[in-house]
Amino acid sequence: MSLATQRYGAVAMILHWIMALGILALLAIGLIMVHGSLDPGTMFRLFQLHKSIGITILLAALLRLIWRLLHRPPGLPASMAQHEIRLAKLGHFLLYGEMFFLPLTGWALVSSSVFAIPTVLFGLIPWPDLPYLPHLADKRPVEAVFTTLHAYGAYFLMAVLALHILAVLRHHFILRDAVLMRMLPSWRRTRHEDL
Ligand code: HEM
Repeated sequence: MSLATQRYGAVAMILHWIMALGILALLAIGLIMVHGSLDPGTMFRLFQLHKSIGITILLAALLRLIWRLLHRPPGLPASMAQHEIRLAKLGHFLLYGEMFFLPLTGWALVSSSVFAIPTVLFGLIPWPDLPYLPHLADKRPVEAVFTTLHAYGAYFLMAVLALHILAVLRHHFILRDAVLMRMLPSWRRTRHEDL
């Protein structure tokens, strides 16, 4: 089968690249707002931006999961060994898991925060807290647990993302197959597609 028929569809590509951009931005903003020394105004704006992009990622992840369940992705190259296929599938499963785990723990830590700062998406759309958490008698330990889960989840995501990117680069530059090209729009097609 030619690669033209083995490509990801437009919706899968758009969701993949928008989410990739959003997640990289969230990692950078998250690290800066927690570990940088910023003035309170900038810090507040960064927190609101982080929460806004994070909730958008949660909604996009829902859409992406539904799309993925309804559409079979193109198969992996026949040249891949069984253990490589298992590793690739494990990596994709972990990435999907993180797309939900991080926004949900972020939402939970904000909902159990003692500061109770409202979330307004992109300064326009008020976003509710999760139920139950804002009304806990002692929110402090709950917030601490979700904050720790969120931070370690983000560090774990950085490791999985690094492996994901290294694997794609290996396919493109060493194995010289079409794994990267089929996730790019067709105007990026090169002779790799014929491999
Ligand atoms: C894919 C989605 C997300 C990613 C990749 C992400 C990433 C991060 C990172 C890297 C940090 C810094 C962790 C540290 O070094 O301590 C962070 C902190 C934080 N995130 Fe997220 N985040 C996501 C979604 C969300 C969402 C949806 C919310 C809230 C609605 C949120 C709220 C927060 C808050 C409040 C902090 C600061 C926690 C603290 O006070 O230490 N995040 N995030």
